[in-house]
Amino acid sequence: MNKLSFEEVKKELKFEPVENKATAEAINILGRDWELSEKTFKYNEMVFITENYVSAACDELKMIPEAKGAIVQYLPAFKDNLALQRLLWHIHYMVFVECTVTQKDIRNWPTLTTDIFGKGLFYAVFFLSGLDYIKKLNAKRGIAYAVTIDTLSDLETWMKTYKNNEESWGLYMQGWVANAFLGGLYKLGRLQFKPDPFFIDQKAYRNKKDGRVIVFPYDGQEFRKDGQYNGTDGITETAGTWKSKLEVKDGYIYGNFISPRGIATQEVKKIAAAEWEQILQRDDLCYSVHIPATGPMDHAQCGESFRQAIEFFPKYFPEYKSKAFICDSWLFDPQLEEYLPAESNVIKFLKEFYNVPMPDAVNTVFFRVFGKDKIDLKTAPRDNSLRKAILAHADKGGHWRDTAFVYFAQDFKWGGQVYRKMWE
Ligand SMILES: CC(C)(COP(=O)(O)OP(=O)(O)OC[C@H]1O[C@@H](n2cnc3c(N)ncnc32)[C@H](O)[C@@H]1OP(=O)(O)O)[C@@H](O)C(=O)NCCC(=O)NCCS
Repeated sequence: MNKLSFEEVKKELKFEPVENKATAEAINILGRDWELSEKTFKYNEMVFITENYVSAACDELKMIPEAKGAIVQYLPAFKDNLALQRLLWHIHYMVFVECTVTQKDIRNWPTLTTDIFGKGLFYAVFFLSGLDYIKKLNAKRGIAYAVTIDTLSDLETWMKTYKNNEESWGLYMQGWVANAFLGGLYKLGRLQFKPDPFFIDQKAYRNKKDGRVIVFPYDGQEFRKDGQYNGTDGITETAGTWKSKLEVKDGYIYGNFISPRGIATQEVKKIAAAEWEQILQRDDLCYSVHIPATGPMDHAQCGESFRQAIEFFPKYFPEYKSKAFICDSWLFDPQLEEYLPAESNVIKFLKEFYNVPMPDAVNTVFFRVFGKDKIDLKTAPRDNSLRKAILAHADKGGHWRDTAFVYFAQDFKWGGQVYRKMWE
């Protein structure tokens, strides 16, 4: 009697693509293998939708009362709602019991913003239902309970971001939050780290004697005259563009020098193949670095996070042979240095790394600093130094673009700006 097909659930919850703007494919991913979760579903008996469970789980995650209250207030939506309960059970079962749904699948789930889904809080309830799963998974690896709980604070971080942007409680970025609940991301102090392959067609080499690091783009990459990949920030130029060379000939490697300031240059450097070893290329395993929106990024705290990561990952994930730390963000756009004071956290941070340009780089700074992808330059708030700087550049017709970095554990000397010192 309590059997519902996924088709029925979709209808019941008004899940049609037209209404919730999600694509039909994304919705189908959500309901994949629907029948597998059928037998174990118990209507009106799921503990995860009780106030007691949710409240205790939020307390364990040290959630602020307002965020906890928002989730608790959403719970009545489940009351006697067979379709909503059935859907929650299905995703809980597939992710935390069968374990056949991955973070990549969850990234493709639809954004559920209608009221019946509590503006995405449905996914918050789902994540809380996996608390035992992630605690056990991490404990099995020997990871400290405190690290697990701190890592899971990402749920609250993204709820708060939603609240700041949309002025009501909710949750988006469920695909991202899933990393923390599936053991695919760890917060170590101020920063988060996540296993990811290096994603750019560039190679890094290290000098065997003096330890210098140099980064070259692969052969044949097209750059603009400003040293950015052609097409970056949506601008494709025809005049002054150039193609990179990477060639090994007669015992030497010839490559276009990428300055640690994130700019590819037309200067071809010649390095002796016997004296330099390749230390990174595309698809090599790395740890990507992330800066959650939990307040200022104190420079010393960020350094401490790297120190912890350098110890943590080889200890708890020895099978994962990472080559480097990598990141891509608005935070490393070299143009920021023209606008922000040297003592700002953002500038101190970016100077520590070997910054490199990214192909097809977009601009995420408006979302991160103003809460929207598109802003009106005339009315956007100029209420702090960062916002003023971002707008000053845009006012002049300038474009911001995300930039990446590579950083090697061997070079860890926080505050040392080691790559700039190697080349300037
Ligand atoms: C990255 C981040 C922690 C830097 O913050 P910070 O340490 O305060 O940065 P700085 O010290 O360089 O800059 C301080 C100034 O910028 C302002 N500022 C910093 N980040 C801001 C943001 N995201 N939105 C609006 N203003 C911001 C501060 O209020 C301060 O203004 P003031 O000088 O007038 O007092 C912060 O921007 C943030 O949380 N961003 C969201 C998360 C993010 O972008 N992560 C990276 C994505 S991979």
